[in-house]
Amino acid sequence: MENKQITVTSPLLPDLGDFNELLKDIWDRKWITNNGYYHKELEKALCEYLKVPFVSLFTNGTLPLITALQAMHISGEVITTPFSFVATTHSIWWNGIRPVFVDIEPGTCNLDPDKIEAAITPRTTAIMPVHCYGKPCDTEKIQAIADKYGLKVIYDAAHAFGVDVNGKSLLTAGDMSTLSFHATKVYNTIEGGALVMHDEKTKKRIDFLKNFGFAGETEVVAPGINSKMDEMRSAYGLLSLKMVDDAIEARHQVAIRYREALRGVPGLRFFDDMPGVRHNYSYFPIFINAEEYGCTRDELYFKLKEKNILGRRYFYPLISTFSTYRGLPSASPANLPVATRLAEEVICLPMHHELSEEDLNRIIEVIVEK
Ligand SMILES: Cc1ncc(COP(=O)(O)O)c(C=O)c1O
Repeated sequence: MENKQITVTSPLLPDLGDFNELLKDIWDRKWITNNGYYHKELEKALCEYLKVPFVSLFTNGTLPLITALQAMHISGEVITTPFSFVATTHSIWWNGIRPVFVDIEPGTCNLDPDKIEAAITPRTTAIMPVHCYGKPCDTEKIQAIADKYGLKVIYDAAHAFGVDVNGKSLLTAGDMSTLSFHATKVYNTIEGGALVMHDEKTKKRIDFLKNFGFAGETEVVAPGINSKMDEMRSAYGLLSLKMVDDAIEARHQVAIRYREALRGVPGLRFFDDMPGVRHNYSYFPIFINAEEYGCTRDELYFKLKEKNILGRRYFYPLISTFSTYRGLPSASPANLPVATRLAEEVICLPMHHELSEEDLNRIIEVIVEK
């Protein structure tokens, strides 16, 4: 019999009976979107869970990036990482801003703060780093550079739900942080996302912008967009929020098992936990040095696939290699040696709350035995 398929992730689904009860309540209320009861409840619950003062819910994790850039009137050039999901750079491009790629650090896959200053020009107005795989950027170094040059910092924290550094939410860094609640993420609302901000005035402005710019029944204060989360997904999000700590702990146990089994395999590298960080174990990337390991990343990727194990090559190809961006001077591989190498080495192994011991043994066997 063919082995069951092991996918890279599996959605955290609330109990269907519980969801049905909330759906019944939404039907009774007859209010299905536009800042309804569950939308407000989820914003409150997320502020508490994430230990942040203000959250504005969105319909996905891309529109908060686009909207944050709009809200801060960012223009000219924005420094960012090529080692991310395309939405990071697309959000810059959609605002008519030129992305400027800066290389990453091998130890975290995050924007290398020591390389940012050299990329700043008189047109630079902001930095958009990504907490790649949920691993915290060096937020202090990035902020010091931003302060020195008067730049804004918008963190794409799509992977960093619930990540704390020394007990403080990583989402409090920079001017704003964005989250994605896509089905593939640690915490999901099917599709969804949010912007996290520091003050009420910004929250209000973002709330206007995500609702066409409406500040009242007849007043439009800015050219806004429609990116509101509806009541069904807000209710779903309230239920999945109650399950997320257990899911993160289950992922933690998967990370422990991978590390035990894969430590010492020649030519294979992975990340350990960082001191003082509460990780969310959103991904488990491994990096293959083909010469030392004995086969290439792609050979391993296809071997896993043959055995019905679906890893993902996040983040390959690099954003800077896509046709829209590859002509930019900063997109040249010579400017991005670390990102270029890691994009060729990385596979994210299956990582979710439902992986069984048997699943893990199957995955580990392929990697160890090649
Ligand atoms: C780093 C990063 N930024 C942005 C996004 C976009 O989020 P969404 O798919 O919810 O629009 C994603 C993932 O999907 C992501 O991984």
